[in-house]
Amino acid sequence: MMNELPVFQAQALASSAAVIRAAFDQSGVVIIKEFASAEECAALKQRAFELIDEFDIDAHRTVFSTKSQAHSEDDYFLNSGGAISFFLEEEAYDDNGRLRRSKSESINKIGHAMHDLDPVFSAFSHSTSMETAARAVGFDDPLLLQSMVIMKPPGIGGEVTCHQDSTFLYTDPESCIGFWLAVDEATLENGCMEFIPGEHRGPLRRVFRRKPGGGTEMADLSADPYPEARRIAAPAGTGDLVIFSGRTPHMSRANRSARPRMAYTLHMISAAAHYPKWNWLQRPTAMPLKGF
Ligand code: FE2
Repeated sequence: MMNELPVFQAQALASSAAVIRAAFDQSGVVIIKEFASAEECAALKQRAFELIDEFDIDAHRTVFSTKSQAHSEDDYFLNSGGAISFFLEEEAYDDNGRLRRSKSESINKIGHAMHDLDPVFSAFSHSTSMETAARAVGFDDPLLLQSMVIMKPPGIGGEVTCHQDSTFLYTDPESCIGFWLAVDEATLENGCMEFIPGEHRGPLRRVFRRKPGGGTEMADLSADPYPEARRIAAPAGTGDLVIFSGRTPHMSRANRSARPRMAYTLHMISAAAHYPKWNWLQRPTAMPLKGF
């Protein structure tokens, strides 16, 4: 039984890739300290706020919530695999339809093709250091599939319940790996990531897919409950990178602190794996997936 998560310094990605790979295979999650500099994080943060400034919130009232899948009926969500789209917090609007907080503090996330469409996020995502991280956890042929800025704003940022990312980004064989960068320091108080190490060897519980007639559905594959008693928090300093298997269950609590908790996530898949047409995320044909 594991009671802590494996932690490495960024230099180890190149010098000790085999050790990182072994820890990743055993735990399904590794933490890479100081992967990005404070300057890089500040640049990503500034760019995210520029994108939010340009976003017309009144034209988009899409509320994204992992607690209800109501959002999934929304074409805006289904088309965001090839776009830079904005999703609001569940509690963004009051009963009178007015924003409770500022625009930037009302946004849950931005996604899902920032890594190809935005110059600042693209440069970071396709960097040689990100490629080194991908190779360290065993990718021979990574394709950059999905990117998100997760805002988790102070006071209003909601809980993300326990899930596995392969539920949402399925390939055959499964190949999804998540790369989660702490743009702000993440602690238990502002809703850091929490993982169940070793449980990537357990079954994939659910799969989220497009229905033939339109819309989406969540299908159960296994009734095994997540062994949440083994869940471990992964507090992260600004610039730390958490890498985790698409099978590793994880969650994050609501941010009820006064501090922001911005993160940038990138999900990669293997080019050799089959990517089903029923995955929710589909890219326009004019936007094929890219590697490094
Ligand atoms: Fe996730």
